[in-house]
Amino acid sequence: MLLPDAIDLKRIPRHVAIIMDGNGRWAKRQGRPRLYGHKVGVETVQQIVECARDLGVEVLTLYAFSTENWKRPADEVGGLMGLLKTYLLKELAKMLKNSIRLTCIGDIARLPKDVRQVLEDTMEKTASNDKLTLNLALSYGGRSELIQAVQHIATEVRDGSLQIDAIDEKVIDSHLYTAELPDPDLLIRTGGEARLSNFLLWQASYAEIYFTDTMWPDFREEAFHSAILEFQGRERRFGKTSAQVVSE
Ligand code: FPP
Repeated sequence: MLLPDAIDLKRIPRHVAIIMDGNGRWAKRQGRPRLYGHKVGVETVQQIVECARDLGVEVLTLYAFSTENWKRPADEVGGLMGLLKTYLLKELAKMLKNSIRLTCIGDIARLPKDVRQVLEDTMEKTASNDKLTLNLALSYGGRSELIQAVQHIATEVRDGSLQIDAIDEKVIDSHLYTAELPDPDLLIRTGGEARLSNFLLWQASYAEIYFTDTMWPDFREEAFHSAILEFQGRERRFGKTSAQVVSE
């Protein structure tokens, strides 16, 4: 990997989350079917995972399939599920070799059984890996995640195991799919749109957001490095003043 000197390896974001957008438009521009864009998008996934691992990113969350994506034509949904399954089967050896742990967030009960089985098998086999956590958002929606958290919290209050006054940020964090993960520091969206699309609504409260016009199939190592550099050039104040941050 050719690493630009300007990247400070001591200030790499712990958690990078990515909305991988633009596969369909990228394919259309070349007169190819949308699924071809997703296929090349998987090659980008392979490169970015490797790149994140080499940089020392702890968690990489990829928005691979949203709750809204179920509304796409059946052949596209089926194609994406097939790509996901092939990716997992093909990458397992590399995950084990490079100490990558696979986790997922989302309503995976909705995934086809064969895909879920491969997913669960990959998670189990990589569970003790500790270099990079590759966290796939699958059938994921930030609002459904919050609804589910509120339902669990309300149940605990009703059952008397949780006091209303004890509900704080930590309690909410612990009821989300991401309970054991740090919040994202950097959230990237490719494909030229500037919205969150129901992704990590609670967790991204203080994330630096980086929007780029580059379509996901073209978002390779150099583009990822540019996002990291932009992140390192920003001052994260978490609501404080600049002077307070500098004196810390
Ligand atoms: C957005 O592009 C992309 C998706 C909905 C799916 C992303 C999936 C992959 C990259 C492949 C499978 C993932 C893994 C982890 C193996 P879009 O179709 O919305 O593009 P458009 O906005 O140009 O139509």
